Amino acid sequence: MTDLLAQPFTLPCGATLPNRLCKAAMTEGLADSWLRATPELATLYRRWSEGGAGLLLTGNVQIDRNVLERPGNVAIDRNDGIKQLKAWAKAGTVAGNHLWMQISHAGRQSPRYITNHTLAPSSVRLPLLGNYATPRELREDEILDFIQRFAHAAATARATGFTGVQIHSAHGYLLSSFLSPVTNMRRDAWGGSVQNRARFLIETLRATRKAVGADFPISVKLNSDDFRKGGFSNEDCLQVVQLLNTEGVDLLEISGGTYEQPKLLGFEGRGSSAEPQRQTTRKREAYFLDYAEKIRKVAKMPLMVTGGFRTREGMEEALRDNACDVIGLGRPFCTQTDFAKRLLAHEINEAPRFEKTVKLGQSRWLSGASPIFFIKIMNLLGQQGWYYQQIMRLGHGLAPDEGRGTLKALVLYFWDELTTAARMRKARRQLDAGVVPPNG
Ligand SMILES: Cc1cc2nc3c(=O)[nH]c(=O)nc-3n(C[C@H](O)[C@H](O)[C@H](O)COP(=O)(O)O)c2cc1C
Repeated sequence: MTDLLAQPFTLPCGATLPNRLCKAAMTEGLADSWLRATPELATLYRRWSEGGAGLLLTGNVQIDRNVLERPGNVAIDRNDGIKQLKAWAKAGTVAGNHLWMQISHAGRQSPRYITNHTLAPSSVRLPLLGNYATPRELREDEILDFIQRFAHAAATARATGFTGVQIHSAHGYLLSSFLSPVTNMRRDAWGGSVQNRARFLIETLRATRKAVGADFPISVKLNSDDFRKGGFSNEDCLQVVQLLNTEGVDLLEISGGTYEQPKLLGFEGRGSSAEPQRQTTRKREAYFLDYAEKIRKVAKMPLMVTGGFRTREGMEEALRDNACDVIGLGRPFCTQTDFAKRLLAHEINEAPRFEKTVKLGQSRWLSGASPIFFIKIMNLLGQQGWYYQQIMRLGHGLAPDEGRGTLKALVLYFWDELTTAARMRKARRQLDAGVVPPNG
């Protein structure tokens, strides 16, 4: 019988992925103060490269050093760092796998401890714990500049040894916020109809393809739905996919949700418009398979689905049913770097899962199921911090700490974010003053 997960897969551009498993993008927070790649990133990706997945996606690399998703993001924005990117790419491809750089702009989802000057299609604030400033509406010349910056980052990725790129247009960041009628209220050519809301993404893809050439993989990460009433809907998504059909996309990754509705991690916020999952999807465990099946009917490019996959049965069933071509996994890679290799060798049948056990307390009132919104959010942040800290440990050459408590993870998470942000802001001021970054 064919071993579905082990099958190579050739993309439209001609590149071949050695198997069907992908480590999805996970922000690492391991850049130096100047937002350049570090030896810790190289260590982390060497471990993941040796871990067996055919495709590794980096965490989001930013095109604007002023508006980051998180302190410790790598950025490609007048901060040099070519030598460091080369070392990262070399380490991340030691096992012959693909390594694609995820390229992004955080838009309005950049926390206050990074900037009070967030940017977005329209001046619509993200109302979450008071942590996000009211964004300024982008001018058209700035949009055009950002399109070129995406393309420049992609060309830099190719020049430094990455084997592909992914344009991040999901989860509420800048490109994704342009797609949503709730956050994009523009009346010019960049807002209104789906075609107009998708213009930024489409123009970015065209500029990127021009910059990297025909034989280099370009992927897009797209929400199947924002799960927000009046927001980017599944119908919108199907229309955007049709627009993408003629843009030479090599792999479309399907995810869903934003900071307000973090469905990408299996959480639901207040006022979610998510429909109850069908029995089959529950059986298949993945969050977005129902959506992927609908998208498959209109998509001409290969598909990857990410979110919730944990069992061999679930992954193989998705491939066998032709719901997607590549299986994306995130959190399992934080505690078992080589689980893909072990899955492919039939040593294990399940990926590690801690998302059900990492919580502030066992009772309903203290866990992620709490009806109190604040507790729910603290559980989500505690869990996110828990995974961030596992990634950092891996980058420092340590073993994961599976027994770490959620409260400790939550406290350390805030501490790390705030201290890293302070260091980074100092370096940013120096860059603005014309200081040349030290040769790290
Ligand atoms: C620690 C962590 C960091 C993440 N960072 C990113 C990111 O930088 N870019 C992105 O597109 N998604 C990011 N995600 C979402 C993952 O790519 C993925 O969609 C999500 O974890 C669901 O997959 P899983 O259930 O296999 O973990 C992150 C998720 C986690 C847990």
